[in-house]
Amino acid sequence: MTENVQVNGSYWLQTAPGGAPRPALDGDLETDVVVIGAGIAGLSAAWELTRAGRRVAVLEAGCVAAGVTGHTSAKLTALHTLVYDKLRRTRGPEGARLYARSQSEAIEHAAGIVADLGVDCDWETRDAYTYVRDPGRADELRAEAAAAADAGLPASFVTETGLPFPVAGAVRVRGQAQFHPRKYLLALAEDLEARGGRIFENTPVHGLDGGTPCRVSTGAGATVTARDVVVATHYPVFDRALLFARLAPRRELVVAGSIEAARDVDGMYITPEENTRSVRTAPLDDEGRRLLIVTGEHFTPGTGDTRERFERLSAWAGEHFPGAGLTHAWATQDIDPSDTVPMVGPLHPGAQHTYVATGFGGWGLSGGIMAGRLLTAWITGEECAWAGLYDPRRLRTAVREAPALLKAQAEVAGHFVGDRLRPAPPVDALPPGEGAVVRAGGDRLAVYRDEAGTLHALSPRCTHLGCLVAFNAAERAWECPCHGSRFDTDGKVIEGPATKPLERRDI
Ligand SMILES: Cc1cc2nc3c(=O)[nH]c(=O)nc-3n(C[C@H](O)[C@H](O)[C@H](O)COP(=O)(O)OP(=O)(O)OC[C@H]3O[C@@H](n4cnc5c(N)ncnc54)[C@H](O)[C@@H]3O)c2cc1C
Ligand code: FES
Repeated sequence: MTENVQVNGSYWLQTAPGGAPRPALDGDLETDVVVIGAGIAGLSAAWELTRAGRRVAVLEAGCVAAGVTGHTSAKLTALHTLVYDKLRRTRGPEGARLYARSQSEAIEHAAGIVADLGVDCDWETRDAYTYVRDPGRADELRAEAAAAADAGLPASFVTETGLPFPVAGAVRVRGQAQFHPRKYLLALAEDLEARGGRIFENTPVHGLDGGTPCRVSTGAGATVTARDVVVATHYPVFDRALLFARLAPRRELVVAGSIEAARDVDGMYITPEENTRSVRTAPLDDEGRRLLIVTGEHFTPGTGDTRERFERLSAWAGEHFPGAGLTHAWATQDIDPSDTVPMVGPLHPGAQHTYVATGFGGWGLSGGIMAGRLLTAWITGEECAWAGLYDPRRLRTAVREAPALLKAQAEVAGHFVGDRLRPAPPVDALPPGEGAVVRAGGDRLAVYRDEAGTLHALSPRCTHLGCLVAFNAAERAWECPCHGSRFDTDGKVIEGPATKPLERRDI
């Protein structure tokens, strides 16, 4: 892999572009359930609910499975880096067992769907590994292996892996899976529609009234009336319970390139070291070559130099897999909940018919499938053993998470105040392809200079809660460090929780 990485988009989206876009919603509608967001969480919920006999309408701001789910590394595993030792301390052994069971059953359930529907989504069974190279951390992994095994997973501590370098220790969980997330979800969407469910693309939702019935309003002015509403927009765009204050955005980079079959790593790997490195491969061509997918370099959106990070990740891949030709580079972000456990259930303490799925902490594929089933149980009134574990309302009284919460809030406050005090460069110093928050006429402006030299000026205040955005030059986007909202160079929302564009300014 080489330096000077060009960010050219997700392999999953390029190899499964889908057909013509589905129509946008252009009139009012009445249905049983509205699902907002067609990522893995929203589509899984919609599919399960359709199967349970509900009339379902999915409203998606962009296209099916083109958000985070279309940019992930697509491992389906219940081994979530280092979670079980922590869970057994914070949620007790039973909490850790429920977590392991809920995630494992989600993967088995997805395998059943793939078999039943005959979905061609490059499904492969693989062992999952969390490894460390620092001998000083081997005991941490021994403890994690023991906790994961106690939680019911086929987990053990090993020192041999399929990686092309030695490790000091690893947790191995047998019989996990990897797949092509977009092929899987496009098939799910087709099946949902064949059963009478409806999906509207290019239909951003702007309003939610969680009454009886609920009313959802779209950007184009249509209203959908429904008994129940699922908010599956990744960061919740409707958030009366202020969940955002307990969620931290984490952006991460992905590079991919082809390797010979003989150099396959025969497993799915992740390490918490080196600012995270994750490695898997996927089938690539008829000659048996594999696509090497390497993920890492996580950071808070809107901070630091993303080009340098891409170069570091690409150099790491080149060092360990010499000769792998880099063909793809992209980035995406997930949300870390302050207590490690995703939030899936009622949207706020008084909610009767509104639900949320968020905070997957980098593991929202098994988590999204689990959320689809759990939200269906909430809506149909079925019992689910892990409803309490994932209930977002737990956060109101969770004393244990206070330090993490305070840290997250201090960081947000730091961006809110500190970024305003930072010196701003003069606008003339901005080269083509770059953006910065500059000072002009006594005011601050978010200014981007395009390749033709034209300046595009916006308000630098994030429309979510007013933090100052910063420019990510590698991806040509404005990013908010507080809760991760992202905007294109014209100010349009790419990623929430913001729902409104950055205001245009004259320059
Ligand atoms: C680099 C990286 C690698 C990862 N690898 C893995 C992995 O290997 N395994 C794993 O389990 N997890 C992984 N994850 C995490 C996983 O990809 C995510 O947790 C998961 O895809 C989130 O799914 P989602 O449905 O919540 O969000 P999304 O897929 O983002 O879906 C949300 C949808 O809501 C839509 N939306 C937003 N606002 C509105 C609105 N107002 N109106 C209508 N629609 C709206 C968006 O357009 C989007 O399509 C990874 C994450 C990262 C960052
Ligand atoms: S995302 Fe919350 S202030 Fe910007």
